Amino acid sequence: METNFHPLTQRRLRADTHIRELTASVKLSHKSFIQPLFVDEGISSPRQVNGLNGVQVDTIGSILAEIDQDLKSGITKFLLFPVPANKKEKEFDFSFAVNTVKKIKESFGEDVWIATDVCLCSYTSHGHCGILNEDHTRLLNSKTVEVISHYSSLLANAGADCIAPSDMMDGRIGAIRNTLNALGFEETAIMSYAAKFSSQFYGPFRDACHSTPAAKGLGNRKTYQVSPFNVNDAIASALRDEKEGADILMVKPAALYGDVIARLKQQTLKPVAAYHVSGEYAAVEALAEKKLLDREAAHLEIWAALQRSGADIIISYAAKNAREWINHAAI
Ligand code: PBG
Repeated sequence: METNFHPLTQRRLRADTHIRELTASVKLSHKSFIQPLFVDEGISSPRQVNGLNGVQVDTIGSILAEIDQDLKSGITKFLLFPVPANKKEKEFDFSFAVNTVKKIKESFGEDVWIATDVCLCSYTSHGHCGILNEDHTRLLNSKTVEVISHYSSLLANAGADCIAPSDMMDGRIGAIRNTLNALGFEETAIMSYAAKFSSQFYGPFRDACHSTPAAKGLGNRKTYQVSPFNVNDAIASALRDEKEGADILMVKPAALYGDVIARLKQQTLKPVAAYHVSGEYAAVEALAEKKLLDREAAHLEIWAALQRSGADIIISYAAKNAREWINHAAI
C-alpha cells in the first residue's frame, strides 16, 4: 500500500522561530526561578566568587541593593546563604543570619519570598554540616537535628518564608516541622534538600561559604549525603522527607541528575525543585569564557532539560537573567 509519509514531515515543525515557538513542549518562565544569595558577616565589601561569573558574596550592607536589582529583573524568590564570621564546634551564634533575614523582610516585606538555607557547614570550624564527636570521626545526627530545628525557628521568627535544610541529617524535616508548628509557625514552608548527592560540583560554593570539610577526621560528606551511585537511596530519602512534612522536594545537583528528577516527579505530588549547583554553573561559564559555547543559549538549554525532566522550580545562579534571556531567546 502507498504510504502518505513524507520525509520532511518532522522538519516542517522546525522551519523557523515562529513554528518552533508555537510547537515547543517546554515553555520556560522566570516565575519558576529562585536566585541564590550569599551574605558574609566577615567581609567589609562585596567579593566575587572564584568561578561564579556574575555572582558576588554580599555584606549585610550590600545585600539590599543586590535584591533591589534582582527585583528589577523580575526575580522575587531567593535562597539565602548566611555566612557567620566566627566558626565553632558547638554553641553557634545565629544572630547574623537572623538579622539579615529581618533586614531583608523589613525592607521588602511581601515583595520577596525568602527561603533560608539551614545547615551548619558555614558555622563549624571543621566545615561539616553538623556536630562531630570528640575525635571528629562521626557526625552526631540527633544533636545536629536539635540545633538546626532551633535555628529554623529563629529564622521563621525573623520572617523567613521558607526553611531549606541542606544538612542531610536523618529525621530533620519532621523535627523542624514539629518545632515550627509548636511555636506557631505553621505557615512557614519547608523546602527540603531531599535528594542531595555527595558531589564534586559544589566546589565554587564551598569557596563562597567557607564550608569545605577539613581533610582530617571524617574528610568528606559521604556518610550523610547521597551517593551518585545509588538512585534508590535518593528516591527513598526524598519520599521520607515528604512523609515528614516537606512542602517542596529538591534534587541537587540538577543537570546530571535528570533521571532522579523524572523518577521523583512520578512518585510525588509535591513540587520538585532542581538546583543547578555552583560547579555546574561554573562549567558553563568556563566554556563560555573560552568562547566554546554561547552562555545564554547554554543556560536556556539546561533549564529546558530540567523542566523536561519534571522540575517545577529551578534554582540557578543565573536566575536574575531568566526573564530577559527567556523573552529574547530565538528558539
Ligand atoms: C551546604 C550546601 C552546599 C550547597 C548548598 N548548601 C554545599 C555542600 O553540601 O557541600 C551547594 C550549592 C552549590 O554548589 O551551588 N550544605
